[in-house]
Amino acid sequence: MQKTQGNTCVVGLTWGDEAKGKIVDILAAEHDIVVRYNGGNNAGHTVCFEGQTHKLHLVPSGLYHERVECVIGGGVVVDPKVLLEEIVKNEPHAPNLRRRLKVSSRAHAIWPWHKKLEALSEKHQGKGKIGTTLRGIGPAYADKANRVHAIRMGDFLDPAALQAKVFAVVEAQNLVFQKVFGEEGLDAKAVWDEYAAYGRAIQPMIADTTALLLDAVDAKKRILFEGAQGTLLDIDHGTYPYVTSSSASAAGVSPGAGVPGRAVGEVLGVVKAYTTRVGEGPFPTELKDALGDQIREQGHEYGTTTGRPRRCGWLDTFAIRYAARLNGLDGIVITLLDVLGGLPELRICTGYTVDGQPLKTFPDGIEALDRAQPVLEAMVPWTEDISDARHFRDLPHAAQKYVRRVEKIVGAPVKIISVGPDREQTIFRP
Ligand code: IMP
Repeated sequence: MQKTQGNTCVVGLTWGDEAKGKIVDILAAEHDIVVRYNGGNNAGHTVCFEGQTHKLHLVPSGLYHERVECVIGGGVVVDPKVLLEEIVKNEPHAPNLRRRLKVSSRAHAIWPWHKKLEALSEKHQGKGKIGTTLRGIGPAYADKANRVHAIRMGDFLDPAALQAKVFAVVEAQNLVFQKVFGEEGLDAKAVWDEYAAYGRAIQPMIADTTALLLDAVDAKKRILFEGAQGTLLDIDHGTYPYVTSSSASAAGVSPGAGVPGRAVGEVLGVVKAYTTRVGEGPFPTELKDALGDQIREQGHEYGTTTGRPRRCGWLDTFAIRYAARLNGLDGIVITLLDVLGGLPELRICTGYTVDGQPLKTFPDGIEALDRAQPVLEAMVPWTEDISDARHFRDLPHAAQKYVRRVEKIVGAPVKIISVGPDREQTIFRP
């Protein structure tokens, strides 16, 4: 069964970790190119097949399909060290990966000074910290916007010029480390020696991916755009400032990949059957009790990137409806539906109130979100193990009702349901 038509965008609807990697891996089989368009190795995408689990941070989740080209777009920030490690680790499972993977010359690089700066800044903030993944994402995007100290992947193609730039940037950054934070600076030569070696290894994969993708659009190749993080972590439209530093919604495809907006195609929004969040920031449906702990254990809710326990709560259809409208959603993908089996009670959030007044729209600032109380609707729980279900009709009546309720509130059809980590544990609805 053909599952999608034309180009497709797979985007997270909440705070990331929606199991997008599995969905991208499945849908990649019917596309020619998979493009990551935002974020960096703050992301953690998990793909399971043939009894093996693969964890990815940077390389698009289409890599395990031999005929699929993989593109890291200009909107991504690339840690060259992590990229190279990931390529080496995955080569045995992804034939010809180095030939199929292209890294945008426009993508900005993450350097050791970005990670050091972020660690010092988060520590300095104390209780006011963002709770970032400490991968240097924010400082790298800040340098991109600031331009002066920014280094793009294309700069690795001219090592002599890049070496001079790295020395100059380290000298300037060291002033910040020493004079602002009272810390030791970095050794420019050591940084350069290490990163020049990564650059030499990655160089053959660096390309003008904007030109490549525009040609692919003209040739009517099928492109899958893979979002990282989720809409509520979007720098512009998420729960600012507790967001990531890139455009994590479908609106990020055009700038992040370098294609016209109309090339985006069908937008599929992924949500878990419940909600999770890592890091700081308001989370109206959070369960800080035994039920939250039960969901965390049943769903193995520990970060793929940092191992941090994830905060767990009820499905928030008020937030999801906002994300659905923002992304121009064509269909919903519900993942981890199996995890809800066996809970003593089941609820779904349909709206928020602040000071007893129902909100009409999702809050545009964290002050209101912090004070928002979820309006919860009781759903009928189920106890059956649904991990072997392959058709909608195989699901218990209560689970079917849960899915239909989500469709009704969000206003978009649920097209795919995931009932376990493996590729096979998936229900497609025509
Ligand atoms: P940063 O992206 O490392 O700057 O972190 C900013 C916020 O986004 C923190 O709350 C992180 O936990 C969160 N975050 C970043 N990437 C992901 C992800 O892939 N999944 C879930 N949360 C993420």
